[in-house]
Amino acid sequence: MEKHVAKALKERKSPLSFEEAAELIGRDVGSVAKASLWLRNKGLIDVEERERKIFSLGEEGKIYAEQGLPEKRLVEELEKAGGELELDSLREKLGEKTFRIAISWAKRRGWISIEKAPRGAVARLVEKPGELAEEKVLKLLAEGERSLDEIPEDLRDACLELASRPKVLEVKIVRTHLMKPTEKLMALPDELLEEEEVTKLTRELLATGKWRKVKFRKFDIRAPTPPVFASKRHPLRELIKLVREIFVEMGFEEIRGPLVELAFWNFDALFQPQDHPAREMHDTFYLAEPEKGELPRKLVPPIKRVHEDGGDTGSTGWGYRWSAEEARRLLLRTHTTATTIRYLAEHRDPPVKVFSVDRIYRNERTDWKHLAEFHQIEGIVMGENVSFRDLLGLIKEFYNRLGLKNVKFRPSYFPYTEPSAEAVAYLEDKKTWLELIGMGIFRPEVTRPLGIKHRVLAWGGGLERLALALYDLDDIRTFYNNDLNWIRSVPSAFLKKKIGIV
Ligand code: PHE
Repeated sequence: MEKHVAKALKERKSPLSFEEAAELIGRDVGSVAKASLWLRNKGLIDVEERERKIFSLGEEGKIYAEQGLPEKRLVEELEKAGGELELDSLREKLGEKTFRIAISWAKRRGWISIEKAPRGAVARLVEKPGELAEEKVLKLLAEGERSLDEIPEDLRDACLELASRPKVLEVKIVRTHLMKPTEKLMALPDELLEEEEVTKLTRELLATGKWRKVKFRKFDIRAPTPPVFASKRHPLRELIKLVREIFVEMGFEEIRGPLVELAFWNFDALFQPQDHPAREMHDTFYLAEPEKGELPRKLVPPIKRVHEDGGDTGSTGWGYRWSAEEARRLLLRTHTTATTIRYLAEHRDPPVKVFSVDRIYRNERTDWKHLAEFHQIEGIVMGENVSFRDLLGLIKEFYNRLGLKNVKFRPSYFPYTEPSAEAVAYLEDKKTWLELIGMGIFRPEVTRPLGIKHRVLAWGGGLERLALALYDLDDIRTFYNNDLNWIRSVPSAFLKKKIGIV
């Protein structure tokens, strides 16, 4: 097709529309249009898009073409009547609609004046018009539609004027494409365009042996194609998957737990006192229905004791009366530490090496850096000889594998760990430090009541803010807006490529 179109253009030496080219080479307009794209990409032609307005008579225009313009008919009536007529009888002769249009145009053109008379208002002929340009246009269009350039130049204004009157003309806009040969095309040797290329090896070519002689078309693997938006993982799921892969590679197993959790696991088992500010309604979503759940009975006395006086942990506890009813309240878990502590209570012997990447909820007002529903990365390691240094090493290794090479630690505080720290990473491109995760060794007040005798290294932190940094975004809501343009714009395996895993 390209060769056919190119040949036609080269022979003509002048621009051709798609339609003209299609006619010349005996093919359909769609194929010519497609070929024109290829030719343009190769710099062999320029394509100019033109808009043409095509005028034809509208509903009113057809009537005017037969009966005359309303204002002209009015003038005729006035002439017949000797130059003057009452408005009422004009209205009767022309009909209400034509009368109103006629009066207004005849006045605007200065043909008539309206005067008061004892018998009522009269119209008086002031000037007798000759043939109008508008009438010539109506005659022309009565023969058939015309584009503006097919209408004589001195009638064009009249045509546009008519088009502005309601329902007089219909205007169609037609786009045409003009292909113009470039110098590059004109310089191409003719033989190149003559040569027929075969795109399909057929049974006939094989049977007749013609395949030996014909020239096969080469595949152009660099040819432009329409973009294909194949299905792929959402960028946030991509990160979650990567986090899973890294933990699994580091020897961890994944655990999951309920989204609706007992305050007992979310707070009490973690030695968070019942008057702790994080437990308030404005930070935590509590369930209205059902309001409360059942406590793990065996654990109630040791947890109560550790909160009240420290029990046998060596701690003095918080020194208040612990309420089982408060611990029974149901909430949307505010951190995945609820899930790890639940798991620990059932797995009290080393080795334990588990992680989770899961959803949590906080009563936050949504803005560019806050969401009420988001994800945390969490994990614990219990072993006979694990130390705080192991914890720092693990965390550093994990984030290194995510491509964050400059990880540092600073002291921190959590009610359930001692010592506690926080990891931060330096973002080279942003020249800022990013808070990654909180961590520490579970306090005896947490582990002893559960019957755990070994050290438990624990950590937990947000996923979305990390995702923001990795995807170089500045609004956390981007992950949840379902903006297809953005989702499509992130190449698949973007993170792995960025980190250099693939
Ligand atoms: N749960 C803490 C948070 O939500 C993180 C943390 C987990 C800290 C485990 C220490 C140990 O920020």
